[in-house]
Amino acid sequence: MSEQENKKIIFSGIQPTGTFTLGNYIGAVSHWGKLQDEYNCIYSIVDMHAITVRQDPVKLRQHTLEAYALIMACGVDPKKSIAFIQSHVRTHAELNWILACSTQFGELSRMTQFKDKSAKHPDDINAGLFTYPVLMAADILAYKADLVPVGVDQKQHLELARNVAQRFNSKYGELFTVPDAYIPKVGAKVMSLQDPEKKMSKSDENPNACIYILDEPDVIIRKFKRAVTDSDSVVRYAEDKPGISNLMSIYSVITGKDYASIEREFDGKGYGDFKLAVGEAVADHLKPVRDEFARLMADKAYLKECYTAGAQAALNISRKTVAKAYRKVGFVDSM
Ligand code: TRP
Repeated sequence: MSEQENKKIIFSGIQPTGTFTLGNYIGAVSHWGKLQDEYNCIYSIVDMHAITVRQDPVKLRQHTLEAYALIMACGVDPKKSIAFIQSHVRTHAELNWILACSTQFGELSRMTQFKDKSAKHPDDINAGLFTYPVLMAADILAYKADLVPVGVDQKQHLELARNVAQRFNSKYGELFTVPDAYIPKVGAKVMSLQDPEKKMSKSDENPNACIYILDEPDVIIRKFKRAVTDSDSVVRYAEDKPGISNLMSIYSVITGKDYASIEREFDGKGYGDFKLAVGEAVADHLKPVRDEFARLMADKAYLKECYTAGAQAALNISRKTVAKAYRKVGFVDSM
């Protein structure tokens, strides 16, 4: 990470739950690399959050390494940013406890993600699932992050982190920075290719609904060809054309073209041509990501070097914050 202290600090995390979707890419990870020059960026693969739902241990380990390689393949440079695996840095668990004691049962009970996930996994409503947002607050507050890039689904958790930071500061004295959400300038929400009213999600039963960033080009093109559209045949961005609008928004983010020029480009052409163009543009765009991912996964020693250095750097920053928090709550100095 750059030595410049005047840059703002960005923290973000992503769960290692299998390969990322085009939605994860466009909405989150593709921005991470672009922020590295302007900010001091800290990125984490949050494996501790992942175990709040049942995971196969062998797969979790594999997915964590893959997620780390993927964020690098998507542009995170471990020389410019701090990139690490959450469970490697003990301060997250330590601060989690401190913050849990400044978080109310009532506020955690209002979290919509907790309600959704406990409805989905009624046989495993564990305490970790309930206190998930406290660990997320610890992730952010341990580094005194100014800005946190998050999607809409995480806004409530970020709001909780802000409240906990303020509560701790007013109980014990100023320590934590109250973080703001970082909303990328472009970064459309990517919808399902089969039901454009729904968010693109890996848990969709229909395999054609979701593009994975490691999908082969022919698979990507085929899924776009099958994308659900409307019965009209004009390529135009409109609220009553959610399928076409979703494809236009993807095409726009990938190519940098605005809606007016896309409409001109496909004037008089049918949906078939348009879908093929979107599929090819996405497949071409993701090719270097796929190639770099393969290269990194074949070089485990290098990956290890990167995540080990990342964890060390993350610990160096966060242990100072945790030491101060321990003092403030009244723990006796240990060293
Ligand atoms: N909960 C986030 C998600 O599922 C992941 C996450 C964990 C995170 N800790 C974070 C995101 C801190 C931003 C900042 O998307």
